[in-house]
Amino acid sequence: MTLDEAFLREEILKLKNQRRAIILAHNYQRDEVQEIADFVGDSLELSRTASAIDCDVIVFAGVNFMAESASILSPDKTVLLTEIGATCPMADMIHVDSPRWERKSFPGFNNPPPFIYPVEFTLRDIKAQYPGTPVVTYVNTTADVKAESDICCTSANVVKVIESLPDERVICIPDRNLSMWAQRNTKKQVIAWDGFCHVHERVRPADVKKAKAEHPKAILMAHPECRLDVLEMADHVTSTSGMLRFAKASSEKEFIVGTEIGLMYRLKKENPDKVFYPLRKDMICPNMKKTTLKSVLIALKENKYIIKVPEEIRVPAKRSLERMLDVR
Ligand code: 13P
Ligand code: SF4
Repeated sequence: MTLDEAFLREEILKLKNQRRAIILAHNYQRDEVQEIADFVGDSLELSRTASAIDCDVIVFAGVNFMAESASILSPDKTVLLTEIGATCPMADMIHVDSPRWERKSFPGFNNPPPFIYPVEFTLRDIKAQYPGTPVVTYVNTTADVKAESDICCTSANVVKVIESLPDERVICIPDRNLSMWAQRNTKKQVIAWDGFCHVHERVRPADVKKAKAEHPKAILMAHPECRLDVLEMADHVTSTSGMLRFAKASSEKEFIVGTEIGLMYRLKKENPDKVFYPLRKDMICPNMKKTTLKSVLIALKENKYIIKVPEEIRVPAKRSLERMLDVR
């Protein structure tokens, strides 16, 4: 640890105690940010922690939809997002009533399969097309989209959430890969949206073949935001914390990790006797990496960036999140 880092850590801990604050960090955060956090986890675990925790301030080291979820579930607490520019491009691929994303900004990603709704549409368009069909919304969405939905899901519980509904058909937004993975694992009909995560979408079967050839004994774990042709080659498909649990419980010694490389830190730390290889070294989410120790300190010191969801959106969005949290 450098002197600078030691100083930042000390200041953060001092302020954290003074302000009765809790630091929540996503599994993709920088190593040193994970190290200073009180809780590190996947989206589902962090939502659960945010709703249950006793504190005055939640400092969220992640991306904006995660801090919004914390604010939705804990309106009486001050929720701070460590970097205001930390967004999730996938969350911006769907909007309630006016499209806000242009396909041409991601060249090469312009051939949606015909059964998937193109992102030039809006959530209200797709709802009008399938009246009465429930909308299952990945937590990687903005608060207004959650408010317009029936229930939320994460990568860890999407199939359980779909199965919990009485309907035989569901609309699942916005990640086409997660939706196709859900379709593969349920008999119900899943209507998908054409959103994607640029970090996971870039992985191709050729990358899997290369990694498996380089590490023939390794088990491949992949996040359901990867393409279906990649998921079909994986040994285990699960959320980020699902990978942590799987690797710990497994008697295998080598693993290829098909998700953002920030997860490698906990995988290695919690399994010192095992070896982990990234599926692709460039699986880096630039938005997750915006937060540094300095951002955490400034957040606590200057009380920024406050994330507060307006009541008229918060109340229906909370209903969607709570319905998800009730699914066991
Ligand atoms: P998890 O819910 O698996 O942590 O994933 C969140 C995310 O943003 C994946 O890209
Ligand atoms: Fe969004 Fe992908 Fe980054 Fe996750 S990894 S926050 S889905 S851009």
